[in-house]
Amino acid sequence: MVKATSDEREKIAGLRLELNQHNYRYHVLNDPIIGDSEYDVLFRQLLDLEKKFPELITDDSPTQRVGAEPLDGFVKVAHKQPMLSLENVFSDSELTEFDRRVRQGLAAAKPVQYAVEPKLDGVAVSLVYEWGKLTRAVTRGDGRIGEEVTGGARTIKTVPLALFGSGHPELVEIRGEIFFPIKEFNAFNERAMAEGEKTFANPRNAAAGSLRQLDPKITAKRALQFYFHSLGEWVGGGKPESHSCLTALLKEWRVPVCPAGAAVSGLDGCLAYYKDLDNKREKLPYEIDGVVYKVDNFLEREKLGFVARAPRWATAHKFPAREVTTTVEAIDIQVGRTGALTPVARLFPVNVGGVMVTNATLHNFQELARKEVRVGDWVMVRRAGDVIPEVVRVVMEKRPENTEKFLVPTSCPVCGSPVVWPKGEVVARCGDSLACPAQRLGAIRHFVGRRAMDIDGLGDKLVASLIEHGFVKSVADLFGLEAKKAQLLDMERMGEKSVDNLLASIAASRSRDMSRFLFALGIREVGETTARNLARHFKSWKRLEEADQEALQGAADVGSVVADSLLDFFKQPHNREVIAQLQQIEGSNWWQVEESGSVGLRPLEGVTVVLTGTLEQMTRQQAKARLESLGAKVSGSVSKRTGLVVAGDKAGSKLKKAEELGVEVLDEASFIAKYPL
Ligand code: IVH
Repeated sequence: MVKATSDEREKIAGLRLELNQHNYRYHVLNDPIIGDSEYDVLFRQLLDLEKKFPELITDDSPTQRVGAEPLDGFVKVAHKQPMLSLENVFSDSELTEFDRRVRQGLAAAKPVQYAVEPKLDGVAVSLVYEWGKLTRAVTRGDGRIGEEVTGGARTIKTVPLALFGSGHPELVEIRGEIFFPIKEFNAFNERAMAEGEKTFANPRNAAAGSLRQLDPKITAKRALQFYFHSLGEWVGGGKPESHSCLTALLKEWRVPVCPAGAAVSGLDGCLAYYKDLDNKREKLPYEIDGVVYKVDNFLEREKLGFVARAPRWATAHKFPAREVTTTVEAIDIQVGRTGALTPVARLFPVNVGGVMVTNATLHNFQELARKEVRVGDWVMVRRAGDVIPEVVRVVMEKRPENTEKFLVPTSCPVCGSPVVWPKGEVVARCGDSLACPAQRLGAIRHFVGRRAMDIDGLGDKLVASLIEHGFVKSVADLFGLEAKKAQLLDMERMGEKSVDNLLASIAASRSRDMSRFLFALGIREVGETTARNLARHFKSWKRLEEADQEALQGAADVGSVVADSLLDFFKQPHNREVIAQLQQIEGSNWWQVEESGSVGLRPLEGVTVVLTGTLEQMTRQQAKARLESLGAKVSGSVSKRTGLVVAGDKAGSKLKKAEELGVEVLDEASFIAKYPL
């Protein structure tokens, strides 16, 4: 066995520190200072060194988050201190009563200090740290005994495997909520639905189901998060005197603390916080169902004690229900980009948690059948954060007579083609991807989207109208619109200027790179990251197109499902035809990845350019598109980072500032001469 030199040991320790630091910046602060690939390089270096010197692997190394072997069953573990539940209040007057009891219990003459936080809708866990090292994670269970989920909790990137800094006690139970952020929850469900796998009814169930996995590798794939909310046992000195002191300390140790938490004074402070949070609720990236008020000071908490299994020093104040009943007026079917048919309940309009809801998804026909929804039924509708409203269940007691079972259509409601429903899949699809206008519409909308080809000025309505007029049937036709300018001008609401802008935006999209293009094609299973990985790996369209199953799986994160989907895509004659047409488009930058360093046809790659003043020969939009096709980033204000200012007539303060800062300035004519398209 080779022994590590002290240099190598130091290198390992240094890499761990550095990786933890980047992890924290990325996942907790949302402020990374290096790119993903640089992170990967460091991670790989550490992995290689640990492979060479396995005796140096420590439990808290960043490489060890997903290491644990699958379990045969969950082990029961007793909490050192019970995990309590909370009493609820549902109105301002009940809260007033709570505060009165607290003041009475403390014989307080002044307003009580409260720590206030959102009540997160997730699963409670207790993280046990011994001498600063994470030794155990246990679910709440019945409050006294929970189940050990250490392997799963370790995969949550914001949960420190070892506390940062110093002053860690001998043992501390750090409790908090594990939750599924709404965006990730939606993405998870969409994906699960597309793959015909089980979806979760809400982020809370998703969090619970993801954490309670015998195989931590499954948990690792779910984007779970953790926020501290309460303290269990603390052994050893240095225990803070209040919740707010504790949160400050935990932040130093890099334990995630909910940023929406605060300290307030008295009942008025609590009420103001509740109102404020209720207003912000829609915008929060996670689901909450109320506010938790806790007496801040730990000695005061001791004085107040408990009733049954809930403390007298804390209470939860619930937000109004987000589940409301209404009636189903109709059940429509939407056809998506991939032909998936989604049943949607049209509802009698109803206010759910402050928002009028008229439609609710029924997800798919299997779900519809399981819930037995019929036109005329009373249904419970639920809305959660940004999640699309959904029908939770039918209120069977209120089902009117003469309702009829919903029949799954045998033909596509948009184009009339037969519906295909592969065995074992939950999703039924329109069988004709070529002719179905709904699928075309979806495919083109996806292609022009901001994260795809980013074609400005091509909104949903215009795409629909272009299809209706027969101007575009596939994405390739967009690039032939130039020749149809006269006809475009005949369309409603299409003036000379908007047509020019549209054509310029389409032309500019030729400069998008291969990964965006690949994503834009809307190949099933190929999201943004996969597209990027494929582009990076194959570097040219030709190599990608010629790759077989095995070769495809050589790209990062590409498994057999993605590979099959790509092979299927390339096999379809229609897709081949569209690609062949796209390959004829002059000046398109979609077919290979330029080696880094070479700027090729994009002389302004990465340069921030500011446009100012009145331009004569181009509209603003055209100038912007032109700059972007040269690789530039167009910005609205001049700063140190500006690389070039293109100044038209009557340029004012921006030109002045550019001159002051010594930024290169070109007038319109020189710009066109220097950077011809
Ligand atoms: S404090 C003794 N703070 O709500 C009280 N709990 O109904 C300790 N919860 O099981 C809990 N967000 O998992 C507290 N900001 C928050 C919370 C919170 C969610 C959960 C917690 C507990 C349940 C009690």
